[in-house]
Amino acid sequence: TGMFTYDPSFTSTASCDSEITYIDGEEGVLLHRGYPIDQLAGKSHFLEVCYLLLYGELPDAAKLEKFETLVTRHTMVHEQMHRFFTGYRRDAHPMAIMVGTVGAMSAFYHDSTDVNDPHQREVASIRLIAKMPTIAAMAYKYTIGQPFVYPRNDLDYASNFLRMCFAVPAEEYQVNPILARAMDRIFTLHADHEQNASTSTVRLASSSGANPFACIAAGIACLWGPAHGGANQACLEMLREIGTVDKIPEYIARAKDKNDPFRLMGFGHRVYKNFDPRATVMKESADEVLDLLGIEDNPTLQVAKELEKQALADPYFTEKKLFPNVDFYSGIILEAMGFPTSMFTPIFALSRTIGWVSQWKEMIEEPGMRIGRPRQLYIGATARDYIDVENR
Ligand code: CMC
Repeated sequence: TGMFTYDPSFTSTASCDSEITYIDGEEGVLLHRGYPIDQLAGKSHFLEVCYLLLYGELPDAAKLEKFETLVTRHTMVHEQMHRFFTGYRRDAHPMAIMVGTVGAMSAFYHDSTDVNDPHQREVASIRLIAKMPTIAAMAYKYTIGQPFVYPRNDLDYASNFLRMCFAVPAEEYQVNPILARAMDRIFTLHADHEQNASTSTVRLASSSGANPFACIAAGIACLWGPAHGGANQACLEMLREIGTVDKIPEYIARAKDKNDPFRLMGFGHRVYKNFDPRATVMKESADEVLDLLGIEDNPTLQVAKELEKQALADPYFTEKKLFPNVDFYSGIILEAMGFPTSMFTPIFALSRTIGWVSQWKEMIEEPGMRIGRPRQLYIGATARDYIDVENR
């Protein structure tokens, strides 16, 4: 019609101004508030990155301690929330449980309904960051039939999550600091990624002024799909299906075949048309964890490494700029840690919560914020008269 810009799938539409994350897909650059992701993943830690994303600057020691204490104090979920978990089928996917239970939190925190009150926004942000690991771990424990493990205030964010996932009442659980560090890195590397599908979903949902817990549940729903957060689960399942190194060429041939819908999971990115800088750091972490656990001969990792090598040597992938993305390596780490593939996307969701919350806060605080409302090109029937059913 000439009235609107037609941009299906939003390949060239900027939907907002943002000061949070910068990506240069051609150069493989990712900055949070100006800081390169490799420096944050190498020198900082997740809660500090949360502070940075949320407030715009790195905290001094006192501010960091205060923030960490605040988050730690909000890690428990209301005891009545347990009933939401136990209402699910015992074999439910943990993402199904997370969509429901995070949405259900909106019923527990009516005060958050006033998104125009800065204090309420602050409290809702802290609650979401603090409770998401507890919720993800509870979703996991429920699906494997083990009792919920309450959070502990003396542990750091990543160690606490690992303990809530892997501790059982029958024995002592010691968190391995190398694994805790790798977990923290996975959180950090997934913390934010500007206007991806789930973040755009959170922004659109909250542009109506809806309860933030319900809006984050919308983000979780969007993240679930295999083209987005679900890629890490899909990637590991693919590596297992390939099974042995000799099968790789067959799968590469399928990925290249236009008549076969099969794609190499964990390869390609809408924005990075170069190596994903997060993948570089994640790859180092994967090597570290596998060294520690002494499973260098893990067949899944062998397939991963060989697949990476063969795909990168293939002109189809290099010409289309299809490089391994962050999910390619995170899946391997999570598998080595003992997580089932169904927990990969919940872990992505808990990591990305800070990104969603920061983008939500930025949007709400923008002067003159209006509801998001895309338009369309109508291609349906032209105006016509209603015909009574007996005359059709
Ligand atoms: N394997 C084989 N061919 C591929 C792949 C792949 N993984 N990804 C893209 N292509 C081909 C595609 O067939 C197309 O070829 P042609 O131009 O000849 O038709 C070309 O590359 C461009 O693909 P596209 O689908 O137009 O690209 P997109 O920007 O719409 O999709 C993507 C990006 C990430 C959805 C896609 O690359 C993909 O499906 N990758 C596998 C799933 C995956 O790993 N997703 C995780 C993304 S990163 C984390 C996250 O966002 O959650």
